[in-house]
Amino acid sequence: MQIRTVGVVGAGTMGNGIAQVLATHGLEVWLADVSETALTRGLEAIRNSLERLIRKGALPEDARHATLGRIHPTTVLAALAPCQLVVEAATENADIKQGIFKALDDVLPAEAILATNTSSISLTRIAAWSRRPERVIGMHFMNPVPVMQLVEVIRALQTDDATHAAVTGLAEALGKTPVTVRDGAGFVSNRVLMPMINEAAFVLYENLATAEDIDTVMKLGMNHPIGPLALADLIGLDTCLSIMDILYTEFRDSKYRACPLLVQMVQAGRLGRKSGQGFYRY
Ligand code: CAA
Repeated sequence: MQIRTVGVVGAGTMGNGIAQVLATHGLEVWLADVSETALTRGLEAIRNSLERLIRKGALPEDARHATLGRIHPTTVLAALAPCQLVVEAATENADIKQGIFKALDDVLPAEAILATNTSSISLTRIAAWSRRPERVIGMHFMNPVPVMQLVEVIRALQTDDATHAAVTGLAEALGKTPVTVRDGAGFVSNRVLMPMINEAAFVLYENLATAEDIDTVMKLGMNHPIGPLALADLIGLDTCLSIMDILYTEFRDSKYRACPLLVQMVQAGRLGRKSGQGFYRY
């Protein structure tokens, strides 16, 4: 199946990045969120990202107008009816995602694919919410979506081969590299990444080094583009905490317990870049 029409639910950091990449590659995109304010913010982020890419010559001048022209913002999920595939990129909260999946099941044609950008919730569980479980799949983009090469494709126990082929084909058409993994908490990306970030938070909590020095060790010593604490700020500390909690709950293993400092920072509203303060100030 060649996919031409795609819906994206959620205009936040991941959703707007996904919508942008789809639209720059010629697909028609319906971008849904609950409020006009969220949509306006999402479109503004897309404009800024396009400017960046045009400025450095990665996109032609006319890509700005053409890309934005292919994105149709909406606050009504029923507007996604023409979509062959929808990528759900809403808040990482199982109840919210379940509500969206139920609503999309009613709105979309039976053959449409339901993809989710979840970073850690079990795909098999999500597929079971739908009346088309064989057409549910994980399409996990990385932040910042326009820059990062990977799409982690997660097969639920129920996902069929045609759905998998359509989604890996789409990822390749977007210039990304899909890597397919089986369903398991945190998949591969966050099973490996989040314990590293959490451990960096522990090192800071135990006063072994400053945030800057912890990040410098990982940048200069391991060639990471940014350190784990700066990366946590980019991802959002609330997202990091919720992923650690899911790993802890799923595996029932204390090695996944969230660092108390991470918990407190989220309680204090220090969520990283998006709130102006996390391990660093912005
Ligand atoms: N849109 C378009 N371009 C962007 C961009 C955006 N939103 N953000 C960054 N860029 C571009 C910049 O224009 C710049 O391009 P050039 O090098 O060609 O000039 C390039 O990316 C680098 O940007 P900066 O110079 O501003 O900053 P940097 O060198 O620190 O790079 C970064 C920024 C690409 C984000 C880099 O720090 C990096 O790779 N960080 C690690 C990112 C990462 O690990 N992401 C995965 C997070 S985990 C996740 O997403 C999954 C999950 O479930 C939690």
